[in-house]
This record gives sequence, C-alpha cells and structure tokens, in this order.
Amino acid sequence: MFFPGAAPPVPFGPQVNPVPALDPTTLLPPRYAVNRRGVQVGSLALELFQVADPNALADSLGPEEFGADERFPYWAELWPASLALAEFLVRRGLLPGVETLELGCGTGLVGVVAAQLGARVLFTDFEEDALAFARANHALNLGRPGRTRLVDWRDPPADLAADLVLAADVLYERRFLDPFLDTLLGALRPGGTALVAEPGRAIAEGSVEVLERHGLCRELHLEEVTAGGREHGVWIHELHRSPARE
Ligand SMILES: C[S@@+](CC[C@H](N)C(=O)[O-])C[C@H]1O[C@@H](n2cnc3c(N)ncnc32)[C@H](O)[C@@H]1O
Repeated sequence: MFFPGAAPPVPFGPQVNPVPALDPTTLLPPRYAVNRRGVQVGSLALELFQVADPNALADSLGPEEFGADERFPYWAELWPASLALAEFLVRRGLLPGVETLELGCGTGLVGVVAAQLGARVLFTDFEEDALAFARANHALNLGRPGRTRLVDWRDPPADLAADLVLAADVLYERRFLDPFLDTLLGALRPGGTALVAEPGRAIAEGSVEVLERHGLCRELHLEEVTAGGREHGVWIHELHRSPARE
C-alpha cells in the first residue's frame, strides 16, 4: 500500500554488501558496570547507557585517579540541567544540519537529542570516558557513533567553531568559569546561538551575564524538570551573536 500520488515502493532486490549492525556496547569503556535506561524527553523516547552507580565510582577513586588536576567524575551523572536543556531543544523543534558543539557533554544526552532533531553534533569533554559514553549513546539512538573531541576549556583548539553551542551544568568550579566562557566565545560563529543551562549554583551567579559585555544578546528562560523524584528549576541562558562579529 502506498499513498496516492507518491512514487511506488522500490521493490526489494538482492542485498549487496550488507553493513553489519553496530553493537553500541562495544563502544563503552570496559571498566564500568553500566545500566541501559529509557529517558523520555518531551515527545522523544531515548535510551541511554549510564554508569550504574556514580557514587560508588567516586568512592572507588584513589589519589592517582583523582589526579593532580583534582577531577571528580561528575561526567558520570545525568544532571537535571541536561534534561531541562534537552526538553527545551525538543520544544524548539528541528535543527536540520545545524553545526552544533556540546561543551562538557558528560554522557551526552543533550547532544543526542540535538542529533535526533537533525543537528550535526560534535561532543566535547575533557574526560575520555565521558566521550566514550557519548559515542555509545549516539550509536544506541542513531545507529552510528557520535563525533567526539577531547577539549579542555583551559586550552581549547583554535578551530572549534559552531552555529549552535550547547552546555548543561558546567558552571560549578571557579577555576573553570572564565576558561569556559572564553571557549564558548571563541567557538560561537557570527549569527550563532548558545544555550547554557545551569541550576542556579551560587558560584555561577553573574558569570553568563559577562557575555553581554562581549556583544552577545541574552534571554533567560526558566525550565522545570522532574529528576530523581524531585522538581528542579533550571535557568537556560539563550545567547545570540550578531551576524557580523563584534
Ligand atoms: C556536572 S557535569 C555535566 C555533564 C552533562 N553536561 C550533564 O549535564 O549531565 C560537568 C561536565 O563538564 C566537564 N568539564 C569540567 N571541566 C571541564 C573542562 N575544563 N574542560 C572540558 N570539560 C570539562 C566534566 O567532565 C563533566 O562532563
């Protein structure tokens, strides 16, 4: 059966060189116990791989793994800010072919949702294991691994550029605030939009506002999400750069 006026279905021929289906679990780092859970984001039903017990992971880290850089494995949690930003994106609608950069992607929910909406997403984080989860979560939902790049905001690559920059819950350590804002400013193309979701941590107060001094226009939205059986309010800063670079 086909719709009147539409081309008839193409008859099946012999399949040449069938591409074997990718098993997304092969993209996960082997050291973690992993859960696969369903996540509903507006009208989108997704599945995500997550570290089964992020608290146990944090407790298990010794001084060498915690490292001189004092990195806590925040990437392994799914934070309410990422749910809020993902829901915001779904309400805004399709992003066909939009070059999109996620900063501090963690396990990648926001970027996976942007990809489901048609965006061309580059997932970035300074944790290799976070990127492995983002690649696997992209594969789980879109059938191919996500594109990833190791990026530390303290030393971002000069060629990082996108029309849409996304970031959820990345404003929580003083030493990273200015490097994050500089990375965002350096990567956002003229005419582009950045969406920064933050749950109102005291340390973040006034930080995104600084971008207005660099000529970005800012609108603020409040999203309410339920996560872990609780309601959370999340601020979404929507930042626009004018088409001609200031
Ligand atoms: C609180 S987690 C949020 C993860 C994810 N966006 C979410 O909302 O579920 C912060 C993320 O930022 C990353 N991050 C922190 N400092 C960073 C830096 N200097 N450069 C790049 N990524 C960083 C962490 O590895 C982590 O994935």
